Amino acid sequence: MTADRSMVAGKQEGEKPELDPGPILEVDHLIMNYRTKDGYVSAVQDVSFTIGRGESLGLVGESGCGKTSIAMSLMRLLPDNAEIQAGKIVLDGDNLLELSDEEMRRRRWNDIAMIFQGAMNSWNPVYRVGDQIREAIDLHWEEKPTVAVANARIAELFELVGLDPAMMDRYPHEFSGGMKQRAVIAMALSCDPKIIIADEPTTALDVIVQEQVLEELRSIQHEFGMSIIYISHDIAVIAEITDHLGVMYAGKLVEHGLTEDVFARPRHPYAWLLLSSTPSVTGPRLNLNPLEGEPPDLLHPPTGCRFHPRCPFATDQCAAEEPPMEEIEPGHLVACWNYEQVPEMKAESA
Ligand SMILES: Nc1ncnc2c1ncn2[C@@H]1O[C@H](COP(=O)(O)OP(=O)(O)OP(=O)(O)O)[C@@H](O)[C@H]1O
Ligand code: SF4
Ligand SMILES: [Mg+2]
Repeated sequence: MTADRSMVAGKQEGEKPELDPGPILEVDHLIMNYRTKDGYVSAVQDVSFTIGRGESLGLVGESGCGKTSIAMSLMRLLPDNAEIQAGKIVLDGDNLLELSDEEMRRRRWNDIAMIFQGAMNSWNPVYRVGDQIREAIDLHWEEKPTVAVANARIAELFELVGLDPAMMDRYPHEFSGGMKQRAVIAMALSCDPKIIIADEPTTALDVIVQEQVLEELRSIQHEFGMSIIYISHDIAVIAEITDHLGVMYAGKLVEHGLTEDVFARPRHPYAWLLLSSTPSVTGPRLNLNPLEGEPPDLLHPPTGCRFHPRCPFATDQCAAEEPPMEEIEPGHLVACWNYEQVPEMKAESA
């Protein structure tokens, strides 16, 4: 990142950026555990996925299924007790797990940025919001810009996320929740990353503001050809804004495909149960089989398929053998021994 680099470097308004072919990010058989005094928490278990340039991927699943753990692994911002046991995280051709700390520090924010879960509540109350973003720019741009250049950039970013640039001189308490979150997005964009991870970017916001913020993110993504990973426990929100959808259960990615395919015809029993209780675009759905029970303790994950204690389709094989991720139709992958038994979604009759 150089001081004169513009968000819209060399690009006229309305002109689509040209995207290189090939994925921007490949996560390959990632395994990550947390060491605790009671043993190992198996938070990310053999997760693989790919994101193309300019594409968006949603990661959904219940609380504690490992969404943030994947995000923090991609950023290499893990706590000391976390151990990446295996796998690769290839960003634009380079395995991030093989980079030195110094090289990773350069790549973080400039190439891969993150909107942290709950970040809108972590603005320092005693500093102006613009000053806090300038501090981030000073830290991460390769050449520290002058105050005037940094401020011009912050004004540009504020406009981009739908904030009045004059707000950069205000304090966090003068921002509404939605405005704080927009400022967080501006900060994440400040180094022109190739990919952004948005971890529950709208969870604390009311529905209307949530839609506005997501729409803003989506239009920025399209305008700049950026890739985004959206993380949420809310599959309906994610399904509306992503090209691809990954469903996680207990540290595992259990279904992955085009969002429209997964949403219309989920094949993993967990995804099916989750979606059965989610209204579709064509109307509400019948929820004859509610998801019962609690997610497992990842200190002692179930044997075989981790979903077997809660699964209505479980057989003896499920408790004994872990199902592999299988491509059941082009681009649609499922890890389930009995996916063929999962019925089609039913719409509620009027
Ligand atoms: N620092 C840590 N040490 C030990 N265990 C951890 C640590 N951080 C997370 N975990 C555990 O790892 C698992 C995955 O947690 P993670 O925060 O990634 O889930 P999540 O899907 O992001 O959940 P949520 O939807 O609540 O944000 C959970 O069992 C959690 O308790
Ligand atoms: S492998 Fe078995 S337990 Fe696991 S989701 Fe499929 S049917 Fe259910
Ligand atoms: Mg989380």
